[in-house]
Amino acid sequence: MLDITTDGSTGTGLTFTQEPHPGLVDANERARLLENPGFGRVFTDHMVTIRYSEAEGWHDARVQPRAPFQMDASSAVLHYAQEIFEGMKAYRLADGGTALFRPQANAARFRSSAQRMAMAELPEELFLESIRQLVKVDHDWIPTSDGGSLYLRPFMIASEVFLGVKPSAEYLYAVIASSVGAYFKGGASAVTLWVSEDYTRAAPGGTGAAKCGGNYATSLVAQKEAILQGCDQVLFLDAAERRWIEELGGMNIFFVFDDGTISTPPLTGTILPGITRDSILKLATDMGLTAREEPYSIDQCRADAESGRLREAFACGTAAVVAPIAQMKMRGGDFTIGTGGPGQTTLRMLNALTDIQRGKAPDPHGWVERLD
Ligand code: PLP
Ligand code: COI
Repeated sequence: MLDITTDGSTGTGLTFTQEPHPGLVDANERARLLENPGFGRVFTDHMVTIRYSEAEGWHDARVQPRAPFQMDASSAVLHYAQEIFEGMKAYRLADGGTALFRPQANAARFRSSAQRMAMAELPEELFLESIRQLVKVDHDWIPTSDGGSLYLRPFMIASEVFLGVKPSAEYLYAVIASSVGAYFKGGASAVTLWVSEDYTRAAPGGTGAAKCGGNYATSLVAQKEAILQGCDQVLFLDAAERRWIEELGGMNIFFVFDDGTISTPPLTGTILPGITRDSILKLATDMGLTAREEPYSIDQCRADAESGRLREAFACGTAAVVAPIAQMKMRGGDFTIGTGGPGQTTLRMLNALTDIQRGKAPDPHGWVERLD
């Protein structure tokens, strides 16, 4: 085993131990897997792990072969779901280099998710270094295809062996990576949403703004309903009035109006503060568009779609990037947004964002971290 000191100091005195890999996937097999990876099924050779205990703090940082975890059946996460995660991507740049997009924002959100879930907070520099280490060692897994990227999944679980209900005294942090193409099957050109009137995702005071697994577990029954209704994704309304549009199961939402303005629901604590959402708000301002963060009711949305005031809607997130919304379905009837196809502003946002992420356009906000 070889102890490597990281290029950048983690600022925590931790070094990552690099374990040798006994059986890397061979280059031909990797090329075959990267041809059409889909989303979240093709995994790289390695993973990073770091342990935490109240006694030792953060320790035992490793870059190691990706392998099953050995866990005691009494590990707290298996019972009380004390778990958080992040989603981010490494991109192949136009000049062949590699880059991350706003990784600092993921590090900060991971820390705030940890706070909400009463978990140990991973120092942001250690989070960033764990990502850099994995991208470096699994660099060859970044697809070169159009729209392809390396999806990075940092996550943390409560690993204390104890059945009492309390914050765990031990945590396991890990990062895995998956070579991905489009999130929606067939790269859907426009998606359909099922408006969930029976189930909500998050209530005031709850965990809606944290990226914890539990939020996704509770969304699945509504997502299942969406699929049964022939839709791609579920759209959640607020829990108090079942009236205000919040977000999708795994994406934020934007609306584009006939006066050229755009809007998205405000961050009131029940929706995830998306990094793509934040970037789009800034890009809109750069483009000279008026962008509002304001409540928008499902009734107004339907009325505006019918009157033509609402021209476009799109979903956005790391996995989905920017996805046009064609139609909304709900018990009261379905309605189509705009032409039912990708709108001009949606495509402009998609291109503006992906051009910065892939180094094809200037990066005025300093969002891109170049790795090599
Ligand atoms: N909302 C939810 C529920 C999500 O899971 C995601 C994806 O991470 C987003 C919004 C978008 O967040 P981001 O743009 O940071 O990926
Ligand atoms: C992401 O976009 O990173 C997410 O976590 C959303 C999930 C639907 C994959």
